[in-house]
This record gives sequence, C-alpha cells and structure tokens, in this order.
Amino acid sequence: MPHYIHGYLSEEQERLLNQAGTLASLIYPWIDFTPAKKLLEIGSGVGAQSKILLELYPQIELTCVELEASQIQKAQANLAGFSNRKIDFVLQDGQQLKLDKSFDSIFICWVLEHVSKPLEVLNRAFAHLDPGGIIYLTEVFNSSFHFLPRLQGLADYYEAYNDYQTKNGGNPDVGLQLGNLLQQSGFKEITLHHGGFHLDQSQPESLANLCDYWKSLMKSAAEGMIKSGLISESGITQMEKDLDQLKTEKNAVFFYQFVQAKAIR
Ligand SMILES: C[S@@+](CC[C@H](N)C(=O)[O-])C[C@H]1O[C@@H](n2cnc3c(N)ncnc32)[C@H](O)[C@@H]1O
Repeated sequence: MPHYIHGYLSEEQERLLNQAGTLASLIYPWIDFTPAKKLLEIGSGVGAQSKILLELYPQIELTCVELEASQIQKAQANLAGFSNRKIDFVLQDGQQLKLDKSFDSIFICWVLEHVSKPLEVLNRAFAHLDPGGIIYLTEVFNSSFHFLPRLQGLADYYEAYNDYQTKNGGNPDVGLQLGNLLQQSGFKEITLHHGGFHLDQSQPESLANLCDYWKSLMKSAAEGMIKSGLISESGITQMEKDLDQLKTEKNAVFFYQFVQAKAIR
C-alpha cells in the first residue's frame, strides 16, 4: 500500500475540512447529482466532501468508502448532524472494492493521486455502478502550477513535494489521465473539464487567501518529506516566506488547474 503523503494527524484532518470549503465553489458547479438516489463516495476521508454532498442533495443515501479507520471515525463525528440521513461507512481499499450493493452515482475527489493503481479503483467503481449510472472525478494536475515572479524556495519545495508523492506510489498529474483511465475501465460519454485559479494583484484578497491555503497544502507533507531527506527545516521556512512574498509582489501571478471528469456506465 502506498504511503499516504498527507498523513492522518488531527491538524491534517482539519485541513481537509477547510480545503473542501475553500474549493467548493470551484468544484461543485460542474457536478450534478440531482437524479442520484444511491451515491458512493470512494476515498471519503473525514467526510468533508460528504458533508457538502449531503447538503446539496437532500435525497441521496450515501456510502463512504475509506482506507483509513481514523478518517472514518472523524467522518462519523463530522457527519453526526445528519442523523436523519442514511449514511454507511465502509473501511476498504478502493482498488479492491467489494460491496454487496450497487449505486446509481459515484463521486471521487483528490484520491486517485494517492493510489498506485488508479485504473483498479475505476474498474471497481464501474463494477459497482448501475448501467446508465454516472461518475464524477476531481483530481490534481500539479504540473500546471505556474507562479510569477520566480521564487526559488517555492519552486524547490514544490518539486520535492511532487517527487515525494511519486516516490510513494502516487501520481501528482493523475488528472491528465482521467479520460484514458475512464475509457480503459469501460465508461462511456466521457467529458473532461478544467477548473482552478488564475489570480494576480487585480484580486489581492483572493490571491492572499490562496497563498495561505497553498502553504497549508504544502506543509501537510512536510514531516514525511523531512524524514525522506527531500527537504530541510529551512526549506519549509523559505517556501512559506516565498508564498508570503507572492501576496505582496506587484507582478504576482498564481495559476493552477485541476481536472474534473464525468462519465456514464
Ligand atoms: C486527500 S484525502 C481526500 C478526502 C476527501 N475526498 C476530500 O476531498 O476531503 C484522500 C483520502 O483518500 C484515502 N485513500 C487513499 N488511498 C485509498 C484507497 N486505496 N482506498 C480508499 N481510500 C483511499 C485517504 O486515506 C484519504 O482519506
């Protein structure tokens, strides 16, 4: 099993909740589960997206599949307010998913980047989706990150961060492959969509918020990166300084794209 680069400390579990809130306005406009009744979420983490899905779609019954028991525990606490809804939690590896029911809809967000066999996850998703059912994916495309001016500390840290994920069996550019992976799993009517940020000093507040969010994302892998010898403490400090500098630079630009895909079985 690949090592999960963000880890499972409570600070990281909190970061996932904040992340889902920060990015919701970019992710959900393209997703439509209005016809859904039985929704499967694979890699549900601490229930950060599950909460949004339950709020947006009051008709759905939700099954959350997650590899790590402590994430499920946290998700159960985070979703305690939905006691009137049917929510099942299943501790399983999405690459070997085996459930005794099928679904009309599937949701996967920020998960395939962490698995060594993303095609297996989609094969298992296909097997659990009803004919005509819909799947939505949202995944990273980390090579799309461009920022100006050139800040070496941030550039070095980002390179090490992506190396760390690759060395641990993940793929920081898995978003690029979503169409191919869905097609290889047998899905039809595949549509791709790009979302993300292109911020500069014309929107200084959004730029500053994004720099702070990015800092927390980058730092979430720091402990493991240090243990692996990929960065030093001073590398973390410099990355943080560079992101602070980006907030105030007259010609600052922050560009990043993630990839969304939808497909039908
Ligand atoms: C970055 S988090 C995203 C969680 C959630 N989708 C969200 O957006 O808040 C990735 C989650 O996928 C889980 N995960 C990683 N590999 C998995 C696998 N093979 N099967 C199921 N879950 C997995 C991790 O334990 C982690 O909770």
